[in-house]
Amino acid sequence: MASRLYASRDDALAAFAAHVSQGKVDFFKGVGLDLVMGRREGCHFWDVDGRRFLNAHSNGGVFNMGHRHPDLVATLRRALDDWDVGNHHLISEARARLAEDLTELLPGDVDKVVFAVGGGEAVDTALKMARGLTQRPKIVSAQGGYHGHTGLAMATGDPKYRDPFGPQLPGFVQVPFGDLDAIERAVTQDCAAVILEAVPATSGIVVPEAEYMRGVREHCDKTGTLLILDEVQTGLGRTGRMFACEHWGIVPDFVVLGKGLSGGLVPISATCYRTPHDRIFTPDPFVHISTFGGAELACLVSQRMLEIVADPEFLARVRRIGDVLGRELDAVTSEHPEVLVAPRRLGLMAGIEWASPGLGMLASKALFDEGVFAVYSNNDRRVTQILLPLIAGEAEVDELTSALDGAAGRLESADMLGMAAALDGV
Ligand SMILES: Cc1ncc(COP(=O)(O)O)c(C=O)c1O
Repeated sequence: MASRLYASRDDALAAFAAHVSQGKVDFFKGVGLDLVMGRREGCHFWDVDGRRFLNAHSNGGVFNMGHRHPDLVATLRRALDDWDVGNHHLISEARARLAEDLTELLPGDVDKVVFAVGGGEAVDTALKMARGLTQRPKIVSAQGGYHGHTGLAMATGDPKYRDPFGPQLPGFVQVPFGDLDAIERAVTQDCAAVILEAVPATSGIVVPEAEYMRGVREHCDKTGTLLILDEVQTGLGRTGRMFACEHWGIVPDFVVLGKGLSGGLVPISATCYRTPHDRIFTPDPFVHISTFGGAELACLVSQRMLEIVADPEFLARVRRIGDVLGRELDAVTSEHPEVLVAPRRLGLMAGIEWASPGLGMLASKALFDEGVFAVYSNNDRRVTQILLPLIAGEAEVDELTSALDGAAGRLESADMLGMAAALDGV
């Protein structure tokens, strides 16, 4: 990075603790992961002190294109000559263009887009539209799922993230993911929407059966319930298809996108929906607005990002590298049967399953010590999430799997197994 903002890493940690979050500094120091991000490029980033890491998490897909993709940086630089965020009330060429390009790629008649800034805001938009369209109160989501920490999105998620913040919103029901009977019981004629992640990441990269997803779609149709598919992590190439719903041949009522849409440079998210649902905005097109939603600079970067990802060769390469990753993860798993169970994977979205939650927690640090940044799934700590940038090649897969081999070797020691056992109940 061209310039440092603090004289030392300790100064940066102290300022962050004093003015942003003491709790986060204490946590990361406690687990030995108190890195401060400095230079970043492609599939790697560096601590401000110069240690290099393979980014195997990509911030849930924000860095699908790697860090500072040169083409996207150039696009943004050029855009800065003439554009800014734009005026959210007015007609915008940049928003029209991106919406046109996006909906061309989306399935069926998902042809309309409301832009937002983050994933939670885009989920909130889908949920409130669903309630308005159906005039029904109930929202069904998956236990252990994650759709954001804003108002309605938070209400679909874990109690532990809602309970500290006062009275709960009524009408939200959670069912186990993957259980069609549970959907059929919960989704009744008073239900506005079912919201699901295409591949729940926080609950451990759970790749659903096609029959489940198709069954949910069918049951929603039967009961007049709208299906919101949260593709904030899975969308835009992550699973080897442009959108994960293509794997199951379903057309959701809403597809929510975020994270990777910005190329990691300027925040933007999108609530994409089937054209008939646009009637909610007919009486008053200003009934929903967002000042920075679909900022024009972000739209221009996203448009270029889409061009790159939508190239069939790009997606074919994601599938090929995904297969290489799958084979190598299987090989490392079979070398370490005491600590590793089995990988899960769809395209380049993978989860490494450890034998216990304690091992999963220790794995983040063990991988960090091997030069790989990866995090565990908060609602299934046995699983390390692996979302390499989509631009990763065989070299990065090798880098990851050698580090995993090293990390698994460390975790097999009696000391580490003891520590893991102590963490299991935490
Ligand atoms: C699947 C999914 N949906 C929604 C969100 C919320 O996105 P944001 O943090 O941009 O509000 C996230 C964030 O991690 C996510 O992973």
